[in-house]
Amino acid sequence: MNDQAEKLRARLLEESSKRPMSKTIAVVSGKGGVGKSNFSLNFSISLCQKGDKVLLFDMDIGMGNLDILMGRTSTYSIADFFEKNRSLNDIVAEGPNGLRYIAGGTGLSHIVKLEDEQISRFTEELAALMGNYDYVIFDMGAGITEESARFILSVQEIAVITTPEPTSITDAYSAMKQIHLLDDSIPFYIVLNRAQGEKEGQDTFKRLSDVLKRFLGRESFLLGILPDDRYIQQAVKRQIPFILYHEKSPAAKAIQHMADKMGCRPADSAAGKNHSYQFISKLKKFLFERQ
Ligand SMILES: Nc1ncnc2c1ncn2[C@@H]1O[C@H](COP(=O)(O)OP(=O)(O)OP(=O)(O)O)[C@@H](O)[C@H]1O
Ligand SMILES: [Mg+2]
Repeated sequence: MNDQAEKLRARLLEESSKRPMSKTIAVVSGKGGVGKSNFSLNFSISLCQKGDKVLLFDMDIGMGNLDILMGRTSTYSIADFFEKNRSLNDIVAEGPNGLRYIAGGTGLSHIVKLEDEQISRFTEELAALMGNYDYVIFDMGAGITEESARFILSVQEIAVITTPEPTSITDAYSAMKQIHLLDDSIPFYIVLNRAQGEKEGQDTFKRLSDVLKRFLGRESFLLGILPDDRYIQQAVKRQIPFILYHEKSPAAKAIQHMADKMGCRPADSAAGKNHSYQFISKLKKFLFERQ
């Protein structure tokens, strides 16, 4: 019976790898409150506006707040998948502009203390679900924990959010170092948030990327500079994603620019055909390995 189940799983996984690939991105930071959730949400919506299909996964442990940021209340969260045996499909909620998201609920701590059977169910259903999306974006909690590392190390790209404040930069560096020591190949895309102008953003990125190069021998890339923008605070208060609140605001324009850039990256070529398959295989390995 076990053997049969194993064969079925292998087949499902193989089939999922033949579906169109989806790019997986983890949004991380060292310090908390630097703008990960606002970036994740608005970047995802911007990709949707360009015609991409995006699944946004709230991975903040017990503190998920993506639905608050978009003024929605989701009926289900990831907890319903594990505790009430809901299918992953059932718990996907509808956001604006065709965005689909999975709310955080009680969060990630559940996902990593699972029975083997639950891990298999989770990874299989996620693999099947991913076939419907061009992007799967994980909004992570601040810092790198043993639990969050399992997801972060499985993705294809890591977006690191930092502000120009020295505390935020130092923590971003520490987080990247932690990841780098576990895997030196997943690319780091840096988002400089709350910059007071282009120059401060560029200068800060240069400082951070120089340090990464010098101490870790590691290249990093600038995904974009997000200006400090009062419209973001207004939008958060009104629970409207800032890109929809004021689409011509400096931050909205910057996000749109990043989404445009993402679409034309050469990485999206044949070499990446197996993204979804690789992601699921790695995630499965990490979730099983570290029980
Ligand atoms: N570019 C910006 N301009 C002005 N304010 C901003 C900007 N980015 C973020 N903020 C402010 O910072 C707050 C925190 O942002 P957000 O919730 O996205 O951070 P986070 O990194 O997800 O936090 P956590 O670590 O708690 O998950 C926002 O509510 C907003 O008030
Ligand atoms: Mg957040």
